[in-house]
Amino acid sequence: MRDVATLIPSATTRVYWTLVSLESDPIRRYREHLGTISGPAFRRDGLGRADDGATAGQLPADGWINASHEEQSDDRHPAAEGTLVARTEAGMSVHKTVVITGASQGIGAGLVKTFLDKGWNVVGTSRNISESTLFDRAGRLELINGDVADPETAERVATAAVEQFGSIDALVNNAGVFFTKPFLEYTIEDFRRLCATNVEGFLHFTQRAIEQMLRQKSGGSIVTITSSLTDHPIASVTASLPMVTKGGLNAVTKSLALEFAKDNIRVNALSPGVVDTPLHAKNPRAFLESLSPMGTITAVQEIVDGVVYLTESSNITGEVLHVDNGAHLGKW
Ligand SMILES: NC(=O)c1ccc[n+]([C@@H]2O[C@H](COP(=O)([O-])OP(=O)(O)OC[C@H]3O[C@@H](n4cnc5c(N)ncnc54)[C@H](OP(=O)(O)O)[C@@H]3O)[C@@H](O)[C@H]2O)c1
Repeated sequence: MRDVATLIPSATTRVYWTLVSLESDPIRRYREHLGTISGPAFRRDGLGRADDGATAGQLPADGWINASHEEQSDDRHPAAEGTLVARTEAGMSVHKTVVITGASQGIGAGLVKTFLDKGWNVVGTSRNISESTLFDRAGRLELINGDVADPETAERVATAAVEQFGSIDALVNNAGVFFTKPFLEYTIEDFRRLCATNVEGFLHFTQRAIEQMLRQKSGGSIVTITSSLTDHPIASVTASLPMVTKGGLNAVTKSLALEFAKDNIRVNALSPGVVDTPLHAKNPRAFLESLSPMGTITAVQEIVDGVVYLTESSNITGEVLHVDNGAHLGKW
């Protein structure tokens, strides 16, 4: 059962935000929310990975490496049920704007498609996103090349969001690198690369987004993609150094949730286990399936649905939502 929860009165130029809220029990709300999302048909090339048919416990010789290393018509992207819809005093629809980092493939590309389908403006960024063939360039989508570790990228993205669409209402810090090594083999260059992308990228984009949200005075949402290995390490997945960064992101999520609660800026994290993306292009599927108690790996759309839920749930902040087939629970 859904109801219109909030109607904020406006000054002359202010907009009315009609927030569609869900019922109070968090689990039921999440399930109901997922039921409203009609996910797009995902292409396996770029968004998912092909099954390699290998067996459990096997890793390829080169280990587990990071693979990466004018208004569109409303008929095309209608605002779906559950969408945050902004209305001017004249009743005109104004779409909210989300910035998505690491948007060229995998989880990020899935986020772009679903947010567009739900009626949001989207600014997607990654180092080579202009080369991606996954997106239809028309309409409410802006794509910007750049390294998240470079503060100038966040500056350009924030400027583009405001100039093209008038606001930043949500940010998804999705860009990230992940690779495994025995702890003694990690180099200081590995550490700096992990920190630059995973932590400095978070810093630059989150600062620019919150600054803009404070200017707008209409709140906002930050969601950061972390990892369930921070809660429950797995002996065969030696990711100690990447988890320095992901664990830090879980921690800063709670600090910022508290710091900006009074400004109605909500800050949450989504913690995946193994997700079916090009990140795992060289890893045997059966090995990946062995890394959660449910014995499955997560489809990109499951992560996307969790991010959308956190973004649109007006009462949730400081939460780390595990979408990981139980991988954070412990030994199985
Ligand atoms: N897949 C999983 O099993 C899994 C599990 C837990 C957590 N995660 C996290 O989920 C997020 C997305 O993972 P994914 O599997 O979708 O990864 P992916 O397929 O490897 O995609 C990574 C994305 O990040 C971009 N990127 C990488 N380094 C960047 C940089 N320095 N600056 C800007 N963009 C950069 C890449 O685009 P460009 O190459 O064009 O820059 C790409 O769009 C990451 O934070 C990852 O750590 C994934």
